[in-house]
Amino acid sequence: MKLSTFFLAEQSAFLRRRNREWKHHLRKVQAFIGESLQRAPRDRPVLILGAGSGLEVPWNLAPPDTTGWDLDPTSRVRTLLRWGRWPAWVFQDLTGSLEALRTLARRSVRQAWSGRTRDRGLAARRLAGLMPSLQAKPVRLQQWLEAHRPSLVVSANWMGQLGSVAQRMMEQEFGTQSPWEEDPELRDPLAEALECWTRQTLQTHLQVLRESGAELCLIYDRAVIQGSSPIQLGPFEHAWTRQLQAASPLDLIDPLPGLEPGDHLPDPISWERWLWTISPEQRHLVEALAWRSRIHTDSLGGMK
Ligand SMILES: C[S@@+](CC[C@H](N)C(=O)[O-])C[C@H]1O[C@@H](n2cnc3c(N)ncnc32)[C@H](O)[C@@H]1O
Repeated sequence: MKLSTFFLAEQSAFLRRRNREWKHHLRKVQAFIGESLQRAPRDRPVLILGAGSGLEVPWNLAPPDTTGWDLDPTSRVRTLLRWGRWPAWVFQDLTGSLEALRTLARRSVRQAWSGRTRDRGLAARRLAGLMPSLQAKPVRLQQWLEAHRPSLVVSANWMGQLGSVAQRMMEQEFGTQSPWEEDPELRDPLAEALECWTRQTLQTHLQVLRESGAELCLIYDRAVIQGSSPIQLGPFEHAWTRQLQAASPLDLIDPLPGLEPGDHLPDPISWERWLWTISPEQRHLVEALAWRSRIHTDSLGGMK
């Protein structure tokens, strides 16, 4: 399956889940991105990563030279249908790393010389051992940023997806056999390698965005909360774990394994969180952070 077809299926599944509970999230996310878009100079380029079909992106507020970036091959047409705009578009993997991960998974599952499938456990251990050698290389994104020097980069809720996208890609290569350790009491080196890969890929991505000198408007899932036990969000706290209030312990997944974007982006312009009910059994803690580097913008001669 081509990477773009894979993303088409992922995005279609995402849109099919849409329900009334999404209204609050869509209002919040559009308002947050809208503020950044309105701050952006009208005569400079803007880039929107994970632009999708524009469900979360108020394209009516985007400056004329705004480019969307999304691997889903239908994303640009869906944006046209939703917003009546046909912006410039990049249909590439913005991490530059997924194809290499898939190739590595494929080679771990099958012997290159005979085409024979390896034993599941052996293939999983082999892949776990090889994954640390993968280096995140967002070359196309770096080239685009250098060529266009955007005043603003919006990251529209794709970062929290990376780990689960990579997980499903790896599972596809293993076919009917699950690559994961079934006994929850035992260590799973492959799951640990995936977490490490996800963290490093996102860390490199953030570094590239920081170095671009653009204002950043980042929206991402900060946590996924499984189950339906009642939760509330208290007043804003630097640590998101302290903001979540619940009577009983929560079943939490960290989609950015251990990476705290807020720690890497000091003195944000704005920073907030809200809860997004995806389904009765799954809620997301969404984080939105707008940031501009004072040092970098000053050294570039007051670029706004
Ligand atoms: C959860 S959806 C966000 C929805 C989108 N912001 C909108 O307004 O419709 C994540 C989007 O990011 C895209 N995406 C995720 N990972 C990507 C990657 N590595 N490269 C390019 N696009 C990616 C997906 O195709 C999807 O459209």
